[in-house]
Amino acid sequence: MKKRFSNIQSFLKRHYNLWTYEPIDSYPRYLNTLTIEFSDFAQAFSQKTDNFLEETSTSFQELFQIASYQSPTPLLNSFFEELKSLMEIPVETVSPLSLDHSFNSIKEKKRHEIETLLPLIKQKQALYGFDHFVDFGGGMGHLAGLMAQNLNIQGHSLDFDKTIQSKGQNILAQTPYGNAINFVHFTLSAQIEKLLPFIEKNTLLLGLHSCGDLSVFLIQAAAQFNVPYLLNFGCCYCRMNTPSLLNISQQAKDEAAVSFSDHALTLASRSFCEDKVKELKHKLKVRYFRALFQLLQIELTGDASIRTLGQTPKEIFNAGFEDYAIFHLSKQKIEACTDLQIKDFKERKDTQIKVREIIALDALRSLFSRIIELAIIIDRYFYLEESGRETQLFQLFNPKISPRNLGIWSKSKEAK
Ligand SMILES: C[S@@+](CC[C@H](N)C(=O)[O-])C[C@H]1O[C@@H](n2cnc3c(N)ncnc32)[C@H](O)[C@@H]1O
Repeated sequence: MKKRFSNIQSFLKRHYNLWTYEPIDSYPRYLNTLTIEFSDFAQAFSQKTDNFLEETSTSFQELFQIASYQSPTPLLNSFFEELKSLMEIPVETVSPLSLDHSFNSIKEKKRHEIETLLPLIKQKQALYGFDHFVDFGGGMGHLAGLMAQNLNIQGHSLDFDKTIQSKGQNILAQTPYGNAINFVHFTLSAQIEKLLPFIEKNTLLLGLHSCGDLSVFLIQAAAQFNVPYLLNFGCCYCRMNTPSLLNISQQAKDEAAVSFSDHALTLASRSFCEDKVKELKHKLKVRYFRALFQLLQIELTGDASIRTLGQTPKEIFNAGFEDYAIFHLSKQKIEACTDLQIKDFKERKDTQIKVREIIALDALRSLFSRIIELAIIIDRYFYLEESGRETQLFQLFNPKISPRNLGIWSKSKEAK
């Protein structure tokens, strides 16, 4: 794992400019900071002349096929090969359990996660015999309730969202194991010792998609207070408010590991399911409009800074770029222009070339989401290992259903 981490670091350092910045943030300067395989790819894509995005999905699909490892140039090819090999992590296979009909209302993603996670916890329980758990950031308590039902184990579900907890509590109350779970309204912050009253000598500390800093608090608590067992899946890296919670391991410090910009943390939080074409087409159209708007802003004001645009009402987005631009120009208090002027701007050859370059770079950049996530998670893995715990890193969920599928299992030396 050390060698892998080192190789990931060197890869990230080599391509730092591509993933650290958003292409629209420093366009066109951005293009000149990239290595030749990326700028060539963007320029080749920008020369295509077919109707793009608003009318057809051909170019879009082609772009993603290319960006998904079918590179036309040897240099890009070797980039994809290296990326692919760096991202290989053992897959934990389990026979999924089927939830009974009382859980029909659970969404497909959550159902898949629980159906896969329960058998894994069951295996670990058979090995280590834990008889108590704390589900941190347990939300509605679905996982906790199903652990009570299927594993005959009792525990706490802690969360700072009272509304969600009451909703879940009402649902569980209608089941035979409704009283097995103790819902506690609780906020975990850097004072991780507040977690201690919930930890017993045989506790499994669980965090399924504990967002932002929360995963790191759980990991630190496990290491510092010798919590017997920990099972954690991180998510929402963009909600990490404390930079010092990144690169926490000695290994990362020794490697002088890269630091992550807010843009990079947002990228790591993105779910990227290649085959959900409809969803991707929508996402890409959002980015296409955003890129066009940025170019329009530069044209009208000379200001290349990136502004937060906020939500666009659905009907305005669906009406097309002209309506989108007029809406946001007025919100940004930029003197508006007419529909026709915006249409002319959009269709101008130089605008189309620039916007295609941005979209191509955006697609390439999106390929870094997983590797950045991996660098963050391997650092957490090392931190636990360095504290003397037996620790494993694996993929569990089907990434097409639940892309944040990197799990950490960790056991203290003293635990059975
Ligand atoms: C992404 S949700 C996951 C919920 C649940 N584990 C699941 O998988 O369905 C993260 C949960 O953690 C809670 N949470 C986040 N940060 C927290 C903190 N610092 N203290 C307590 N709860 C927190 C949120 O309210 C939310 O319910």
